Amino acid sequence: MAIFLDTANLKDIRRYHRMGIIRGVTTNPTLLLKANLGRGMGALEAHSKEIAHLIAPLPLSVEVTTNDPQEMIDQAKMFASWANNIVVKITVHGPEGELENLEVTHDLETKHDIRVNVTAMMSAQQCFLAAMAGATYVSIFGGRVNNMGYNACGEIARLRKLLDQFSLPAQIIVGSTREVLNVAEWLEAGAHIVTAIPDLLEGMLVHPYTKETVQMFLRDAEKSNAVLLEAVAAR
Ligand code: E4P
Repeated sequence: MAIFLDTANLKDIRRYHRMGIIRGVTTNPTLLLKANLGRGMGALEAHSKEIAHLIAPLPLSVEVTTNDPQEMIDQAKMFASWANNIVVKITVHGPEGELENLEVTHDLETKHDIRVNVTAMMSAQQCFLAAMAGATYVSIFGGRVNNMGYNACGEIARLRKLLDQFSLPAQIIVGSTREVLNVAEWLEAGAHIVTAIPDLLEGMLVHPYTKETVQMFLRDAEKSNAVLLEAVAAR
C-alpha cells in the first residue's frame, strides 16, 4: 500500500499517478473546498467521478457531508454508485461526540457491501473500535496528534499491534502529514498507508544535493559532447 495522495487537485493527482508512486487518493470537505470545484452535490459527483476514473482501480476516499445517520447511509450509497473504487469516509463520531457513526460504518460494511474509511481519529483506541466495527480503513491524524503534544509513532505502533493481535483486517492510514520525515517514520511505526499532500511528496523526491549533482552531469555532458563533435569533425 504505502502512499496515498491527500488532495482533490486533479493536476497533482495526474502528475503523481503517472509516476506510479501513489496507491490511492484521499479527500475531505476542506481539501475539496481548496480545490475550488464549485458548490453542491453535482460538483462533488463530477469531480469524484473524474478522480476515481483517473486512478482506477486504486481507491478514492470521499467524505460524507452530513452528520445525520440516515443521510450518511444515503450519501454513502450514492458515492459508492459513482465508481467501484470509491471508499466512503465517515468521521468516528459527530461534532459533539454523537455515537451513531460506528453503527453506520458497521451497517455500510456488513449490510450494504460499501467500503468505509473511518476518519478524524486521534488515538489508537478510537481506531481499534473503528476496526472492530468493520471499517476497511482507519485514519489517524498523525500531525494533529503530534500538535497535541504526544507522539503519533507510539499510537501507530500500538494500533498496529492490536490489529495484528486480533487479526483485524483494517488498514491504518496516517494523515495530517506535516513534515517530509513523517512519511517514513509513520510507515516504520506500523502504518499500512501514509497519505501526504503533493508538496510533501515533492519534498521527499527533490534534494538540493541531487540537483547540484545533476547540474554537474549536464554541464560535463555538454563539454564532452562538444569534444565528441570536434573529434567527429576532425575525421
Ligand atoms: C486524511 O485523510 C485527511 O484528509 C487529512 O490528512 C487531514 O489532515 P489535516 O490535519 O491537514 O486536516
